Amino acid sequence: MQRSDLPNDFVVGTATASYQIEGATHEDGRGESIWDAFARVPGAIADGSTGDVADDHYHRWPEDVALMSDLGFDAYRFSIAWPRIQADGTGAPSRAGLDFYRRLSESLLERGVTPWATLYHWDLPQALEDRGGWLHRDTARRFADYAALVAEELGDVVTDWITLNEPWCSAFLGYGSGHHAPGRTVGTRAAHAAHHLLLGHGHALEALRATVPSARVGTTLNLYSVRPAGDSDGDADAARRIDGLSNRFFLDPVLKGSYPVDVLDDLGETEWFAENATDDDLRRISAPIDFLGINYYSRHTVASGSSPSADAPASAYPGSEHVRFISTGAPVTQMGWEIHPDGMVDVIRQANALAPELPLYITENGAAYPDRVDSDGDIDDGQRAEYLEAHFEAARNAVAEGLPLKGYFIWSLLDNWEWAWGYSRRFGIVHVDYETQKRTPKRSARWVAQFLQDAVPASRV
Ligand code: FCB
Repeated sequence: MQRSDLPNDFVVGTATASYQIEGATHEDGRGESIWDAFARVPGAIADGSTGDVADDHYHRWPEDVALMSDLGFDAYRFSIAWPRIQADGTGAPSRAGLDFYRRLSESLLERGVTPWATLYHWDLPQALEDRGGWLHRDTARRFADYAALVAEELGDVVTDWITLNEPWCSAFLGYGSGHHAPGRTVGTRAAHAAHHLLLGHGHALEALRATVPSARVGTTLNLYSVRPAGDSDGDADAARRIDGLSNRFFLDPVLKGSYPVDVLDDLGETEWFAENATDDDLRRISAPIDFLGINYYSRHTVASGSSPSADAPASAYPGSEHVRFISTGAPVTQMGWEIHPDGMVDVIRQANALAPELPLYITENGAAYPDRVDSDGDIDDGQRAEYLEAHFEAARNAVAEGLPLKGYFIWSLLDNWEWAWGYSRRFGIVHVDYETQKRTPKRSARWVAQFLQDAVPASRV
């Protein structure tokens, strides 16, 4: 597999997210986010840590920009911390917050790396959560105001915009299982949060288009390849449900302008959606986008099971709690996520079937492994390099099949604060020593750099 196996204009980038790398949570007027609050809840984070320091990227960003430029990346997908721009989620923007992202974007451009900005990678201002968060319809409007402020300021340096990162996680982990901030467990009402997030996408899209007509705007969904464990009707129904909740519940409104009726029925939320998800909302949510971002990590194999007991922990699949997720025995990463590169092509096909002309990007793909630093300081993460190569091959296969896959972003540049797992899961191709903040490219980074050197696009030589 060589870079020249991919089209010349195929974008290869890397991705991070604000709360996972920036640190400096109390600096320059940044407000509190739901993750700051959630990380302090005893037991919420596996290692009891917070993102207060993380990779200290807020101070070390020049080194990180140099790193990705030296590795040869075409693009860098970062996210903007809403509470750095509006401490409490409303009102005038903070100059310091805007300046930080301007300096970052300008420096990327100087180094030949295209900035891709995600507006919402989960750090909702806590003040908005106090008013109901994503369960409250008004949050969608606040998100659009924030989007307009950011676009106004950065529209000349950032062309590629992603409104939301993985609304499934925000809604169903944030308000369903409670494994993510804000840690609420409201059962099937988590679907209301999903609608308000999507509405936020629609409003933000409109705001971005009005502010920066030349912007390229998309959104990012996390999609799974889903299949039934066996031939039974129960297993087929389980697969329909999980594909419905994880994939179709987001793909359909964005690309078709409707919610899947079977999923609303599974959720028991048909009535709420009939009353609250208006035609106007759906027109906004399905307004044309310039690309769709897909985060792909794994496949789900599911079977029908029995309903859990009343005292079982809250589920991320409300209304479908009886579905069992089956281990296939195939290799998994440290997250327990099955490694299944062909599934990346499955989800690309699924999105493409709904919008045949729409450019698609894999905006995240990568793997956690328990890396070891050798006595000579080297990190020999051969498994991660193999994981990445297998997924680059899947990207090549998707392109060869005629699918409009235009780029692929590695998650992640740096080891970072992996949400509920804290610092206990490392996804970086660059190792971070959290004591010293020293960055050390791992073997996977060296592999990526070599891969990217083959057929360097003319614009970069
Ligand atoms: C995705 C998130 C990203 C990171 C990876 C491992 O769900 O978007 O921030 O945590 O998983």
